[in-house]
Amino acid sequence: MRNGDVAVNNRFLRACRREPVDRVPVWFMRQAGRYDPEYRQIRETHTLLEICREPELCARVTRMPVDKLGVDAAILFSDIMVPVGAMGMSFSLQENVGPVMDRPLRTDEDVARLHAFHPEEALPYVLETIRHLADTLPVPLIGFAGGPFTLASYMIEGGPSRDYLRTKTMMLARPDLWHALMAKLSEAMSIYLRAQIEAGASAVQIFDSWVGSLSVQAFRAHVKPYVQRMLADLAPLGAPLIYFGVHTGELLREFAEAGATVVGVDWRTPLDRARQRVGSSVALQGNLDPVCLFAPPEALQREVEAVLRLGAESPGYIFNLGHGVKPTTDLAQLQRVVEWVHAFEPHSPAV
Ligand code: CP3
Repeated sequence: MRNGDVAVNNRFLRACRREPVDRVPVWFMRQAGRYDPEYRQIRETHTLLEICREPELCARVTRMPVDKLGVDAAILFSDIMVPVGAMGMSFSLQENVGPVMDRPLRTDEDVARLHAFHPEEALPYVLETIRHLADTLPVPLIGFAGGPFTLASYMIEGGPSRDYLRTKTMMLARPDLWHALMAKLSEAMSIYLRAQIEAGASAVQIFDSWVGSLSVQAFRAHVKPYVQRMLADLAPLGAPLIYFGVHTGELLREFAEAGATVVGVDWRTPLDRARQRVGSSVALQGNLDPVCLFAPPEALQREVEAVLRLGAESPGYIFNLGHGVKPTTDLAQLQRVVEWVHAFEPHSPAV
């Protein structure tokens, strides 16, 4: 794989496909963000959404962790809420809070008003950023979208939530409305992800960050069919499909069954147990506790190696954190983690 004269490091894609790798690949969720002084400086003059809307700047921000940390994949700089705006719901991203809707979604009319969007027309800047990156990055680019449960939760609650009370209540009291909402969200995100892959993203991750708040039975009944449909729509494109949420230890088998080719794992579930749950036909990604990055280097190294030993036991493993990099993380700690992961002898060396 090459971009012009640049050879693309493809160990991330090889691991997604469970092929032998020379080194364990590593990237970090939220690898572009506030821990980086250069990012904070850009944020002094641009809001997050302004960065997303300027392809050149957005591509630069996406690339920063590749150059500074030496990670094996880049993730598009954007937010799961960007396409929510394109579906007709306005929101703001509030510092240290997260997304806040101007008017939460509660009624039949609210769901009826949500509309599909054409990615090239509604979000041309996202695809332009991807096209630019796909031609210039020395590593594969990961595109992404929010998962249907997580997007629905922000829309219905109006912002972040502890218990997802209104979301789960809609699921139980108005299954018809819930299913109409899930159908709209999953279809729109599937079209959006397809456009990202067609523009040059080599893999995509569905961030269903809060889906672990559901029981296994509720996930099966109210969410899984929609995730399954999204993954089935995208599978023919051939790009690895990563599905991730926190607190999802009990759901991991469901994720593999739904058709994810890579299952993201948070730090609560040891990777050998995750492997037992998902079987041998998918790759695993995870799962260092992001708080370990605040430990002294020696303690951090022990934690990284413990994760690697469990993860690299079987083919198809990508090192990551169990959730996003925290904003006060020291950049040097992330650099060390990448070095240690790359120094580790993987299960089966490349042939
Ligand atoms: O991973 C990356 O480097 C790519 C960029 C990315 C962002 N958001 C940029 C961002 C990605 C992949 C996301 C996804 C996202 N957004 C998720 C799923 C991942 C997860 O963490 O579970 C969720 C739940 C959101 C919604 C959201 N947007 C939250 C919870 C926040 C944090 C609020 C805060 O201030 O702490 C945001 C804002 C946001 N999106 C930031 C970044 C870098 C915060 C920093 C900023 O405002 O510059």
